[in-house]
Amino acid sequence: MKKIVSLSLIVGALCTMFASESPEELATKKCGECHLMGAITKEKLDNMKAPPYWAIAKKARERYENEEDKISYIIDYALHPSEDKMLFPVDTKQKFGVMPSLEGKVTAEEIRKISTYILEKKF
Ligand code: HEC
Repeated sequence: MKKIVSLSLIVGALCTMFASESPEELATKKCGECHLMGAITKEKLDNMKAPPYWAIAKKARERYENEEDKISYIIDYALHPSEDKMLFPVDTKQKFGVMPSLEGKVTAEEIRKISTYILEKKF
């Protein structure tokens, strides 16, 4: 009996491992098309469509002290971006335009994972 329980625990753990993507994969898939994620190459730098992820993390850290506030700001912005919420300066808007809403393309829970990941990353 004990064996069966531990076996099913292992199988269960393996399933969740394969079913859910790592925060890094999520960030690359959902935000990496515009925000520089993962390895930086010259090609990526030349084709930048938005400020890199670390610039977002820096803005969030400068503006908010509390970890939960930083995450909430990123979740809210990715789902409902608007000019008046922008922490980036006017130059950013002139260069890249305001970010399009990702509502329907990514869930708040996924953005939470992505935010935690980019806020933890050292750069
Ligand atoms: C289609 C391109 C595109 C995608 C995809 C994208 N962004 Fe952005 N994002 C932008 C642009 C352009 C800006 C800079 C202008 C602005 O701040 O709105 C930006 C800015 C931001 C900002 C800073 C806003 C500010 O000015 O304070 C946050 C936070 C952000 N993005 C989060 C995300 C997250 C999280 C994802 C993935 C779930 C994501 N973005 C995916 C284009 C994109």
